[in-house]
Amino acid sequence: MAVITIVGGQWGDEGKGKIVDLLAEKAHMVVRFSGGDNAGHTVINPYGEFKLHLIPSGIFYPGVVCIIGNGVAINPAVLLKEIKKLNEHGIDTGRLYISDRAHLIMPYHTLLDELEEERRNKGALGTTRKGIGPVFSDKAARLGIRAGDLLDAGTFRGRLGAALEFKNMVLTRVYGVSPLSLEEIYDRYSGYGEQLAPLIKDTTSLVRDAVTRGEPVLLEGAQGALLDPDFGTYPYVTSSSPLAGASCIGAGLGPGEIDRVMGVFKAYNTRVGAGPMPTELHDETGSLIREKAHEYGTTTGRPRRCGWVDAVAGRFSVQINGLTDIGLTHLDIYDGFPTIKICTAYEHGGRTLTTFPSDQTILEQCQPIYEELEGWQESIGETRNVEELPAAARSYLSRLEALTGCPVSLVSVGADRMQIIPIRSISPWQ
Ligand code: IMP
Repeated sequence: MAVITIVGGQWGDEGKGKIVDLLAEKAHMVVRFSGGDNAGHTVINPYGEFKLHLIPSGIFYPGVVCIIGNGVAINPAVLLKEIKKLNEHGIDTGRLYISDRAHLIMPYHTLLDELEEERRNKGALGTTRKGIGPVFSDKAARLGIRAGDLLDAGTFRGRLGAALEFKNMVLTRVYGVSPLSLEEIYDRYSGYGEQLAPLIKDTTSLVRDAVTRGEPVLLEGAQGALLDPDFGTYPYVTSSSPLAGASCIGAGLGPGEIDRVMGVFKAYNTRVGAGPMPTELHDETGSLIREKAHEYGTTTGRPRRCGWVDAVAGRFSVQINGLTDIGLTHLDIYDGFPTIKICTAYEHGGRTLTTFPSDQTILEQCQPIYEELEGWQESIGETRNVEELPAAARSYLSRLEALTGCPVSLVSVGADRMQIIPIRSISPWQ
């Protein structure tokens, strides 16, 4: 057995793409298990520059089978655009499959996401407006349309008709906008269906066969733990679970089949959209991190909120994911910082909190309690060996490990795939 789950440990955008890319080289299969095209990462390689929202970056390795699992919500237009761009650059997508159980993002999902954000006005969640909340609501409400439905014209028309009848009532009577046309959506999505038909499969059996053969399989998450609908900063969360537990459900495996769960964390914290973030910096240090690390969203281009690393939230993330190890990214951003802070606890109403509160009002009022560590002045981008890291950088890693209760297995010190420092070996695969 050799199944590894990779998840985001913070509020998303931790640099999972690079770590997945690194491990995918040794994988036989990469399975994306949650989220939708609200996620995104940029891959720069000899083929060119690609912004991928749905297709696992394993697609760049010949022979690696890539699966968009049942836990993902697929916008077919976005998927087809990604496939086209890859094909134009000579990348074979014949090893890409999508689960027949994956739900589809329909035009009314994106429209309702926008209308609902407008209606919330000042209370907007800051969603990516990709239809994520509405598509996963429909999944739970048993009103969704799945990729497999596209394979049969009668089934598809029936499900679309039933869903659209209700959606048009909501659009016209609640939001006062024009209804959507059944024929227009039917024709457009039937066209997508024709193009995607060869890819739509019972991917669970493909995953099962790979696991039975003992092949290395990578389960790739999206977003981060603090955006989880149960454990994240509710209601400022996404609508599918980004946690390791969801990698089982979103791919079709059991918990006992996962051998390693790596959480990817940035050396600092970022967040896009609304919601509490206790360590957010509104000063020039926050701006410095943003500009140095180019912290702007891949999907929406929004500037990300930046701050010191939050070890209270980090420890919580380690626990709710059952992480075996941490992949730490962007450590080089701290090059030249005189000192670096880590939030070790929160102060709230005269009390010290060491656990992550579920109540957003409390979390918003929490004041971070910081420990200040010495920085380093050297540039660490060319370092490939942990012993060569400045002592202050090594102390920072040790302190993070102690505070989160989880070992750091590798550190990324730059955008290039070579800019990685292995710290310790965590079996399997390393
Ligand atoms: P939604 O997932 O588009 O509904 O957005 C809900 C919240 O999750 C918003 O605060 C988004 O900014 C955030 N979010 C969704 N996807 C990502 C991601 O890939 N990275 C970071 N934040 C995300």
